[in-house]
Amino acid sequence: MLAVHLVSFFFSKLQEDPTKKVDRFLHAMRLQDEQLVDVSNRFLAEMKKGLSAESLAAAAVKMLPTHVRSTPDGSEKGQFVALDLGGSKFKVLRVKVREDEGIKKGGVEMEEKTYPIPEELHEGRAVELFDHVSESLKDFLHEKNMSPEKKHPLAFTFSFPCEHPSLDQGLLLSWCKNYKVRGLQGKDVVQSLRQAIDRTGDMDVDVLAVVNDTVATMMTCGFDDQCCEVGLIIGTGTNACYMEELRHIDLVQGDEGRMCVNTEWGAFGDDGALDDFITDFDRDVDAASLNPGKQTFEKMVSGMYLGELVRLVVLKMAKLGLLFDGHVSDALRTKGKITTADVAAMEEYINGLINTKEILTRLQLTPSPDDCVAVQQISTIVSFRSSNLVAAGLAAILTRIKQNRNLRGLRITVGVDGTVYKTHPQYPKRLHKVVRRLLPDCQVRFLLSESGSSKGAALVAAVAQRLTSQRRKVRLLDQIRFRCLCTFSSQLQLVKSRMREGLEAGLKSKGCTIKMLPSFVYHTPNGTERGKYLALDLGGTNFRAMLVRFKRQKSRLYHKIYTIPLEIMQGTGEELFDHLAQCVCDFLDYMGLKKVRLPAGFTFSFPCQQSGIDTGTLVSWTKGFKATDCEGEDVVNMLREAIKRRNEFDLDIVALVNDTVGTMMSCAYEDPKCEVGMIAGTGSNLCYMEELKNIEKLEQSNEWGGLGDDRCLEDIITPYDAEVDMHSVNPGKQRFEKLTSGMYLGEIVRQVLLDLTRRGLLFKGHVTETLKTPGIFETKYLSQIESDRLALLQVRSILQQLGLHGTCDDSIIVKEVCGAVSRRAAQMCGAGMAAVVDKIREDRGLERLSIAVGVDGALYKLHPHFSQVLKETVGVMAPHCNVTFLPSEEGSGKGAALIAAVVRQKQEM
Ligand code: BG6
Ligand code: BG6
Ligand code: GLC
Ligand code: GLC
Repeated sequence: MLAVHLVSFFFSKLQEDPTKKVDRFLHAMRLQDEQLVDVSNRFLAEMKKGLSAESLAAAAVKMLPTHVRSTPDGSEKGQFVALDLGGSKFKVLRVKVREDEGIKKGGVEMEEKTYPIPEELHEGRAVELFDHVSESLKDFLHEKNMSPEKKHPLAFTFSFPCEHPSLDQGLLLSWCKNYKVRGLQGKDVVQSLRQAIDRTGDMDVDVLAVVNDTVATMMTCGFDDQCCEVGLIIGTGTNACYMEELRHIDLVQGDEGRMCVNTEWGAFGDDGALDDFITDFDRDVDAASLNPGKQTFEKMVSGMYLGELVRLVVLKMAKLGLLFDGHVSDALRTKGKITTADVAAMEEYINGLINTKEILTRLQLTPSPDDCVAVQQISTIVSFRSSNLVAAGLAAILTRIKQNRNLRGLRITVGVDGTVYKTHPQYPKRLHKVVRRLLPDCQVRFLLSESGSSKGAALVAAVAQRLTSQRRKVRLLDQIRFRCLCTFSSQLQLVKSRMREGLEAGLKSKGCTIKMLPSFVYHTPNGTERGKYLALDLGGTNFRAMLVRFKRQKSRLYHKIYTIPLEIMQGTGEELFDHLAQCVCDFLDYMGLKKVRLPAGFTFSFPCQQSGIDTGTLVSWTKGFKATDCEGEDVVNMLREAIKRRNEFDLDIVALVNDTVGTMMSCAYEDPKCEVGMIAGTGSNLCYMEELKNIEKLEQSNEWGGLGDDRCLEDIITPYDAEVDMHSVNPGKQRFEKLTSGMYLGEIVRQVLLDLTRRGLLFKGHVTETLKTPGIFETKYLSQIESDRLALLQVRSILQQLGLHGTCDDSIIVKEVCGAVSRRAAQMCGAGMAAVVDKIREDRGLERLSIAVGVDGALYKLHPHFSQVLKETVGVMAPHCNVTFLPSEEGSGKGAALIAAVVRQKQEM
């Protein structure tokens, strides 16, 4: 206090430049860039806290998931009514969205009407407020001649913090700004709205979505600019939302794709995080507000409070004799007498000082020209602090997006709305400048939401409506045959127990469906392996030749990939092995190693009966291979013969391994707990370390793909599966593999789509030649279609590339079908895996087993959901086992080379 008096004395004596005295008086509000960086970092930390399940309860910034998963893609359509409640005006609107016109202007038509909300309703009972809302809605429908008999879909922008269990539910967390209505906190605002609509009567309305204004603003702007992934409001209140990676949102299941998160940044500082930035004026504003102690950041920033902050500063300075010769009027002492509009007027470029004088005169003051300059400066400092704080918050959000996406720079659009941003003459420029200064490596575009939030809310509703109608359709499909693809836990239990029986039977005798083939690998690598080894890898998507150098517990890999043409896969054995020899020759040439006789490991990913580590008889081809004269032959011999025929190089083939074994070995090199190897790729198989007492060998390559070849899965196999099996190269064989592996999933999908089309539920009932073409759906397309990252239009365009021309609605069905087929595959593999790990646990007499599984294959690695569903299923079906999955980094080739190295070292000893 003494300091303030000294300052005032000093000023009055020297007649200083009036802006300087204000600058000093409001020193604490003038934030330097280092302070803004500090605020930004604090907000980043708050965001993390709000997203994590552990710290969420204590977090001030709530980071609310919104269930809005994508920004508009132009495929939205329909006619909606919209309600916009919580900003400075309450509005009812009609919004028409036309499909495919989003990018063009005019794709959306809007009509709106503002309905004033009587002052007493702001602090009355919820029922009264919602009755007013629904009366206004009825009036609007009547005025626009919208029939009361017809059902009108409705989108609701509700600009207060809500938790959203779903898109059409919003549980109000707390009121803020100028609302404090009784009887709604913790309740669903949509429910209250529906009840009010029922009370009002004579209208039929379907509330499809409730969204925050930030989200709706992001969507509005996203309609014109697809880079818009942030929504910002600087109006009566302030807030921001952005697209967060789903994997970081603990409250929502799933880890693929993004979801819009409403930060509710207005509450930043409610836990004291901004205490060192808060001035006495902020404390006074807070104390006089409807929600003391709440919305700390909002009260420093938003339109509801800026005028009041200015008034309190002017009042204080006047009382200290620093303004108006110490004169204070009653009006100046009255709350609300300076508004944010006044602040904006005082800062106008040309008329600012005249406006200031008028405003002060209106407050019964007689300002001198210096007083006007000083008060204008107060406004400037207060509003500048606001834009600076918003810039700091925004910088945190953009930094997070950048980090999430692992980008150095970022090109992004921020959709903005709110009266402060729209009407304050300097605000936007200042904000943009500071954001760009804080984030020099980001290209940030600010896009003003010209048409308010309702357009965006309607777009959200349009997607919701389409999904609802499609789900209805899919439910209908469910009741037909599609249902048979849904696995129930009883079916998974069945798979688990059949798998277990199959494993036991395979261990006891030959000729079973699950072959349980010994691998003759007795030693695991110990890190002392040295030298250069060749690895050949046949049976996955491609043939790979690889050179592996082991040196001091490190390995280096060089490889080349070769495709195997269909005519070779299905030609004669000699042609196939000649082709392999030719590829190896090319690789050795490429590596300059043709003259060296390298030791080699041969990954041969088909069932082989081995009688030693370097010999194996092919039991039967799988996965589309059909080369003649191979089954019953020793494949190592066949390769040796082919090399001899070529007569250009020589190899010392020391080990033959299945890909599951190679994968397990290669993962065990990194983690000794790895005792299971699994492939979920073109084919499906698993190996594990079996107890010696059960057999006379160590590892077992299960060949679990053969489960069901004795018809034990008949009650699970659908007509679609039967169709796929019938048209495969090995009908009746590998029935489990045909339900679970990449080679067949696309075909199952195609069979379902054919059926749905024939029933007129898809592609307008046209069964095209493309749809009749086997193999059009490769696993990679399945993975793409199922990615949550893709908007519907992109799914549609993938289908178009495949020659399937349908509407966006068709795309939803296709996506659902792909999802059902791949989910079933992952669940079945999970059930199979549960049988294996439980067996290991029981064999070892353990209550709990911790085990690692090395995994490889395109389905596991590239499909967006397969790995997650697999893990979840194992978790549920083998509750006494902790199973960790280790994706194999370098394929099974490295494992084969390791085995070769182990064998070689053993031989040399
Ligand atoms: C409007 C939006 O344009 O801006 C509202 O349609 C939003 O949903 C509002 O709440 C925010 O600004 P203000 O200044 O009206 O609070
Ligand atoms: C590779 C292995 O990484 O994965 C192969 O090296 C294996 O041996 C393959 O067959 C399985 O995956 P896909 O998806 O190629 O069948
Ligand atoms: C308040 C509300 C928030 C809203 C913002 C802008 O901060 O809590 O939900 O987005 O005001 O209107
Ligand atoms: C097939 C093969 C098997 C292989 C699996 C994965 O099921 O029969 O040996 O491990 O595909 O590639």
